[in-house]
Amino acid sequence: MTLDDFYSIKNVDGLEIVDSRGNPTIRVFVRTVGGIAAYGDAPAGASKGSREAIEVRDPDRVGGMGVERAVKNVRDYVYPAIRGMDVRDQLAIDHTLIQLDGTPNKSKIGGNVTIATSIAVAKVAAKAQGVELFNYIGGSSANLIPVPLLNVINGGLHGGNKLKVQEFILIPAGFGEFSESLIASVEIYRKLKQVIISKYGKIYSGLGDEGGYSPPLESVDQALELLSSTIEELGFKGKVSLGIDAAATDFFNTSTEKYEIDGRALSPGELLDFYIELASKYDLVYMEDPFNENDLQSFAELNSKVQNMVIVGDDLYTTNVEYLRKGLRLRATGGVIVKPNQVGTLSETYQFCKEALDGFNKIVVSHRSGETEDSFVADLAVGLSAHFVKTGAPARGERTSKYNRLLEIEKIHHLRYRGKSA
Ligand code: PGA
Ligand code: ZN
Repeated sequence: MTLDDFYSIKNVDGLEIVDSRGNPTIRVFVRTVGGIAAYGDAPAGASKGSREAIEVRDPDRVGGMGVERAVKNVRDYVYPAIRGMDVRDQLAIDHTLIQLDGTPNKSKIGGNVTIATSIAVAKVAAKAQGVELFNYIGGSSANLIPVPLLNVINGGLHGGNKLKVQEFILIPAGFGEFSESLIASVEIYRKLKQVIISKYGKIYSGLGDEGGYSPPLESVDQALELLSSTIEELGFKGKVSLGIDAAATDFFNTSTEKYEIDGRALSPGELLDFYIELASKYDLVYMEDPFNENDLQSFAELNSKVQNMVIVGDDLYTTNVEYLRKGLRLRATGGVIVKPNQVGTLSETYQFCKEALDGFNKIVVSHRSGETEDSFVADLAVGLSAHFVKTGAPARGERTSKYNRLLEIEKIHHLRYRGKSA
């Protein structure tokens, strides 16, 4: 066997597994002639942007969620196409997947198939070269741990309450180490549970999709007030700030063109004023998808009016350079969400990050609400030198696998925490 054979792909196979929401998803295995093997999992969103890559699923199985067709696509199309390719050539492999699919949104082979394959290839390449995955992705310049964004109150499509805003987020930037920031967040999360039980009863200590609580709160103010007072009570004021992911497409009424939130129907201008008012009342430094995914203009207006707050595009861009370029031209955002499965390959994800950074946008590497126990996004966040990493509450295995990997990277591989410099 030559050295090149060692890296050359021998087998590719797919497996239907189960995600954190109890839905099937796909795991793709890649193995080289040298016997190096790894898998990649496709996560899945609930509040998806309309321009995301399409997941191939079985209409007639598991309520339309099965992935046997996707597994067949791995065997029938992906395997023959990338067999014999070198796992170190991520760009060529991803390019082959893109061409094999041939559609603008990966609807033929499936974005779930292409991203799981792309991730598996990167993991095998890192393993075969004996380097940590974050170093394989980012080289020696990957030397900072991003600030975690911990979604501890779930609303919108992720929670069972009346909150329209989807996520209320802790931002523990004011600590010297990642581990301190995580443990402070754990203390807040634990305290929050006590407060929720004493105010609303034990039945409301249940968790939403991303591990946050889903108490019977009815307004943005109530949720931000609850978090602010808990942070203050624990002595973390100034060290832990707040953020929201409005996921506003989900409460935008397209026929009236109004945002239906907290018992009101607001025009884009009124919603903008509401956000500015919130920022004056709370230590609110992060706002994701404040307007619907087609309203770049309102994003730009808000972005021009706020200081000390990062306005972030998720559904707005869907990790796709085509939409990002439009946003950058209008200065619509100060940050971008990076979700590899929104676009379908790692190479396209890397290109998106490069252009976002060139356009002075911060990088927020993110999980999905439907996850697996794989910790890939932790390494991706460090590898991409992301400013922030967004991976839910500090609870439930599919979320903690990412945080625990970041702890490992900090303690075992001695990387520094970004902290306030994010
Ligand atoms: P999703 O939600 O994974 O359900 O899309 C996460 C987000 O909107 O950030
Ligand atoms: Zn979002």
